[in-house]
Amino acid sequence: MSDTATTLAGPDLAIGVPISKIADGAMLLGHANGEAVVLARRGNEVFAFDAFCTHYGAPLADGLLVDDTVRCPWHHACFSLRTGEAVRAPALNRISCWRVEQRDGRAYVKEKLERPAPRRSPEATSMPQSVVIVGGGAAGNAAAEMLRREGYSGGVTILSADQSGPCDRPNLSKGYLAGLAPAESNLLRSPDFYREHGIELKLDARVATIDTANRRVHLVDGTSHDYGALLLATGAEPVRLDLPGVNLPHVHYLRTLADGNALVAKALTSQRAVVIGASFIGLEVTSSLRARNVAVQVVAPDAVPMERILGTEVGTYIRKLHERNGVKFHLGTTAASIDEGGVTLKTGEHLDADFVVIGIGVRPALSLAEQAGLAIDRGIIVDQYLETSVPGIFAAGDIARWPDPLTRERIRVEHWVVAERQGQTAARNILGRRERFDAVPFFWTEQYEFSLAYVGHAELFDKAEISGQLDAEKHDCTITYSRNGKKLAVALVRRDLEGLVAEVEFEKTMRDELVR
Ligand SMILES: Cc1cc2nc3c(=O)[nH]c(=O)nc-3n(C[C@H](O)[C@H](O)[C@H](O)COP(=O)(O)OP(=O)(O)OC[C@H]3O[C@@H](n4cnc5c(N)ncnc54)[C@H](O)[C@@H]3O)c2cc1C
Ligand code: FES
Repeated sequence: MSDTATTLAGPDLAIGVPISKIADGAMLLGHANGEAVVLARRGNEVFAFDAFCTHYGAPLADGLLVDDTVRCPWHHACFSLRTGEAVRAPALNRISCWRVEQRDGRAYVKEKLERPAPRRSPEATSMPQSVVIVGGGAAGNAAAEMLRREGYSGGVTILSADQSGPCDRPNLSKGYLAGLAPAESNLLRSPDFYREHGIELKLDARVATIDTANRRVHLVDGTSHDYGALLLATGAEPVRLDLPGVNLPHVHYLRTLADGNALVAKALTSQRAVVIGASFIGLEVTSSLRARNVAVQVVAPDAVPMERILGTEVGTYIRKLHERNGVKFHLGTTAASIDEGGVTLKTGEHLDADFVVIGIGVRPALSLAEQAGLAIDRGIIVDQYLETSVPGIFAAGDIARWPDPLTRERIRVEHWVVAERQGQTAARNILGRRERFDAVPFFWTEQYEFSLAYVGHAELFDKAEISGQLDAEKHDCTITYSRNGKKLAVALVRRDLEGLVAEVEFEKTMRDELVR
């Protein structure tokens, strides 16, 4: 028996399984011709597809079937059961599908289905001549890919101020910094991908102004680009501290791949770090540095880390989790100055460090939108189709504030999956689809062995109710965030399926709100 065969689980689906073994809406993990395959039943139909998600490899059999899609248990990517298409980010690549033959009450997995033919170019009359995307991050990359997937044949240009191609930012503070994921895992796509798809990717290409009257963007290097439609996806920038010593070379921020590389290099040659800021970036960095055996002290003004977003109990748990891993917290205070040897706190205490990481939040990069006269309110105001106040200019990702059907408020979030999905929706709307952006916000964090997924959006909540256990011995729970009795979000610890079910419930609530 080959090594692959020994790792394959479940029945051999090529020799057939009784259909009665798979309940309607259920999945069965097995294998066919040496590949791991999932069988899924929807009424009288049976589908066969890859067992693993193309994002980070989650087992799809642990996910959820919704209509004719399967949703991934880890970060909620969504694939078509019929074509394998990655319908929703964060997965960008399709999964394979197999033909299923039903005979005498059994389902047999046959040959792999051909990749569907590329979509035909939409009607030229309603199409912009060209699309320029300002920003080479999550939203910009997903939009460019979606334009091509939808068969758009006009020019697509990404103008990115970054030095590197679109990269997997969540990886920068987690696997890559911890030394668990290789450098090659950082880029979302190879340079060849953009060439092959006719996407012009210009790096180190910062846009200085937008001339909305003449539909042209001007870059700081003096060049310019005309556009038929424009997508702004300029993301967010780290909030900079204004302190003595903050510009010393051993002081780091983390947003770009270059920042990530600099931090990894520093961690490799250092023993002690001070992290300023106890929110997601600060604490993920802390956890990753601990994986490299760097001693870390965390400084933050909060009484409880991440309390505002996750509530007191979860914040307290996370603090203890870090303390169990040897981290020392200095809460309720801030840094007064930084020097070559460390950080001096407002209390006068000096913390020795070989390097300092500042992660105190981000600010949406709005200067271009302001200059162009777009409507702004703590983000670029977009409508349900992600179009800004200027027709033909769309915005997506960390900069966009959109009307959320669930809360009936305009919201802006800083989540990877939301940015990618907005990029995808904006691309389709640039092609005239008029598709409402109604995805339920989703984010995740990983610190040591603890990971948490968050579904929904509760900017303000008056109740955070925990069901299950969250302590040193066991973490397996659901936290429900509500305001005035209305459920706004849930956080899940080791309850992937419940997270997917919650997402579907929120989608239903949204649809109900929209018809009210
Ligand atoms: C280290 C790290 C870890 C994270 N982890 C998670 C996580 O675990 N889960 C989660 O949900 N979210 C996470 N996030 C947040 C997530 O990465 C962001 O929400 C997401 O990247 C936003 O996508 P975006 O396209 O709006 O912006 P970005 O990805 O930031 O891209 C913005 C792009 O715009 C470019 N740009 C800006 N101004 C200009 C200009 N004037 N001209 C040309 N280009 C310009 C930038 O160079 C960049 O290419 C993390 C972020 C970081 C930094
Ligand atoms: S592993 Fe499937 S969405 Fe991330």
